[in-house]
Amino acid sequence: MKGCMIIKNASQLVTCSGFKARQGKAMSDLHIIDDGAVVIENGVITAVGTTSEVLGKFDESKFNTINTMGKAVLPGFIDSHTHFVFAGYRAEEFSWRLRGESYMEIMNRGGGIVSTVRATREASREDLIESGRKRLDSMLSFGVTTVEGKSGYGLDEKTEIKQLEVMEALDKLHPVDIVRTFLGAHAVPEDFKGREDKFIDYMADSVMPQIAHRNLAEFCDVFCEKGVFSLEQSKRLLLKAKELGFKLKIHADEISRLGGAELAAELGAVSADHLLHASDKGIAELAERGIVATLLPGTAFSLKEPYARGRYIIDQDCAVALATDCNPGSCFSESIPLIFVLATLYMDITIEEAVTALTINGAAAVDRADSIGSIDVGKTGDIIILEFPSYKYIPYHIGVSCVEKVIKNGNLVFDKENKISR
Ligand code: NIG
Ligand code: FE
Repeated sequence: MKGCMIIKNASQLVTCSGFKARQGKAMSDLHIIDDGAVVIENGVITAVGTTSEVLGKFDESKFNTINTMGKAVLPGFIDSHTHFVFAGYRAEEFSWRLRGESYMEIMNRGGGIVSTVRATREASREDLIESGRKRLDSMLSFGVTTVEGKSGYGLDEKTEIKQLEVMEALDKLHPVDIVRTFLGAHAVPEDFKGREDKFIDYMADSVMPQIAHRNLAEFCDVFCEKGVFSLEQSKRLLLKAKELGFKLKIHADEISRLGGAELAAELGAVSADHLLHASDKGIAELAERGIVATLLPGTAFSLKEPYARGRYIIDQDCAVALATDCNPGSCFSESIPLIFVLATLYMDITIEEAVTALTINGAAAVDRADSIGSIDVGKTGDIIILEFPSYKYIPYHIGVSCVEKVIKNGNLVFDKENKISR
């Protein structure tokens, strides 16, 4: 019975059907089945349809059945951009920002990312696993079934590898699936200040080949930003990453307009992320090349920066994904409902587009649109059941999670009502 489940009588079965990213107008179509049901066998979806169609073909006694009695059912959410494995917190820094200091000012005087690096270098593997596990539990309660996690709080060989190994261990012991990204070029460590090119050489020539050889990460990312890594340095690193078989992501045009979006297009990255200051040309190129534009409204909110131009980016025919960016500095939050309401209220993204951005487009942002992100036959049985009859309650219940149950690989792993967790 493990991994075998029928979910029936869904007022809306929001399938988000499809096997690739949805661009522009296509983001509005959620492919909803009224009074829907879904069958999962051995962790894989084997039937999708109306409840009467599905029950006509399967013997319910062989399955665990959930009768939703008129709730909305969606694919599990995919949080496609996070930095959730770290040690140390930066609450003080948050209070400095409230007093008017900027994120980059704090970073430039030795705080910010580098202070998390100090704590993460010192932390034991066990402590990182324990804090990471708690954050995954929190994500799961918001309906997240797959999360992308980045290294980047080591900035040296030993700690970058430690962070990725911690994610590898967490992936085995927690139901939320983890997609690993190497972000060795996340900041310039103290001993490389003024020698950024040397640091890129070190990461590209000494660290990255080991990560590739040991299969510790699938993606490579870089913080391409004024005062951090230039366009040329980012390109050099990413070209080497590509050669080694990594897929690419870029922290692009987050604080200033450097041309990160254009670089993502030039290199054929899977996603370009942040894009608060992306140019019209950069956005057009992302649309043209089918590169996912991953928007992180929680970060703009927390940094009091202008939001990325979500409406414009979708209208230019891009595929948009939404993610939390969960990290100890610019946005310490695992909250999907927060991201959802910010995107709809302040980026003028519609509710339907936001659902797409957190499901099939989130899957595309981690190059898994063929196996997760929608309720389609053949995909993994990762599904959420809301407390309400419609997906429209997600932003309406402001900042509060509407997720009642989470099913991962066909097993119930979270139940708000019965307090079952994993
Ligand atoms: O996506 N910008 C770089 N990285 C993160 C912040 C990391 C941190 O401040 O610890 C971001 O905003
Ligand atoms: Fe980030």
